[in-house]
Amino acid sequence: MKNKILVTGGAGYIGSHTCIALHEAGYEVVVYDNLSNSSREAINRVSTLIGQTIEFIEGDVRDAELLRKVFASHEFFGVIHFAGLKAVGESVAKPLLYYNNNAGGTITLLEVMAEYSVKNLVFSSSATVYGDPEILPIDEKSKRACTNPYGQSKLTVEHILEDLTVSDDSWSLIALRYFNPVGAHPSGQIGEDPNDIPNNLMPYISQVAIGKLNKLSIFGNDYPTIDGTGVRDFIHVTDLAQGHVAALNYLDKQTRPSEDGTAQNSVGFLPINLGTGKGTSVLELVSVFSEVSGQTIPYQFTDRRVGDIASCYASADKAKNLLEWQAELSIADMCRDTWHWQSMNPNGYNLS
Ligand code: NAD
Ligand code: WQD
Repeated sequence: MKNKILVTGGAGYIGSHTCIALHEAGYEVVVYDNLSNSSREAINRVSTLIGQTIEFIEGDVRDAELLRKVFASHEFFGVIHFAGLKAVGESVAKPLLYYNNNAGGTITLLEVMAEYSVKNLVFSSSATVYGDPEILPIDEKSKRACTNPYGQSKLTVEHILEDLTVSDDSWSLIALRYFNPVGAHPSGQIGEDPNDIPNNLMPYISQVAIGKLNKLSIFGNDYPTIDGTGVRDFIHVTDLAQGHVAALNYLDKQTRPSEDGTAQNSVGFLPINLGTGKGTSVLELVSVFSEVSGQTIPYQFTDRRVGDIASCYASADKAKNLLEWQAELSIADMCRDTWHWQSMNPNGYNLS
């Protein structure tokens, strides 16, 4: 098995957890990240956790020259492409930055991969490509429609990947559509470290629990859901990390040369949901977090957030059938590990 993987964005939240899972599964990892939304400290901690120094290259996926040097000096089985910007609100204010970074960066990466005949890619897509779903649970054949530039940049990349496989059938391109990743490594050493006031629910709750923020605003209590608050498919980041290992194992199995050593199969463009298949409401999450952390989470109901949808949860059947992967961890596990990370690192990776 050729087992070296380039992990773009590997210093980030999901990437750092995936590096550990990859190492444990026998893959060798090279991280490529411009640290625009992450810290070198995350890589140091991953290295400590796995007992081995991770090879780290500080670089931008839009830098073709640097990427060429990296591909020339390593023989990669494939690439996991996490590198991207992910703040929905910022994408509305800075659409060109988001298209340039997320779509432009992916095009540059694919061009260099083609030059070096590395044709296996696992791309970080998002449930956001489904927009406001007509049918729940959401399966991979559901209509795709985005409402903001961040989502459009992900959908654009999916179209690019699809078109590429039509033009050349030697590509194997898996788009993993993540639902709502939360939680942290059980060691409490790595986790989500938002730069500013968090936009997302779980980091907001944990910063209220630790006393950095006063009160959670719950955006709307009049949705047609179990208790009026939004429902999402929260998935533990370590389960998500295992989903990437399963995707690579699948690519390895599918693209392995045939017995006579000639034919190689490819999988084309393959979109796969990574979710638990279960929906949890905002109030349910607050209640479980409060229970496992022993902290009170003060909250108030405010207006709905523009662009939000009532409910979103995955059909997780395709991942189970094709990748033989399913999420294992509960909402209580997600809250417990978030709290462990937050209480051990009240300032995230900022050690000062
Ligand atoms: P993150 O910001 O923690 O990680 C992304 C990493 O990419 C960061 O380390 C950042 O420094 C790096 N990066 C950004 N632009 C780069 C560039 N041009 N060149 C090199 N490195 C670059 O985010 P995350 O939560 O770990 O998300 C990883 C991927 O998954 C992203 O593509 C994101 O859009 C996608 N995703 C995230 C979520 C989520 O809720 N966290 C949900 C669905 C999809
Ligand atoms: C979840 C629920 C909010 C914060 C976002 C992106 C999506 C994907 C995952 C990348 C909703 C409510 C939130 C708060 C609240 N990322 N909420 N108070 O919006 O489902 O998805 O992250 O691909 O693209 O849009 O996640 O965590 O922001 O919100 O009441 O302070 O929590 O209204 O119902 P979302 P979220």
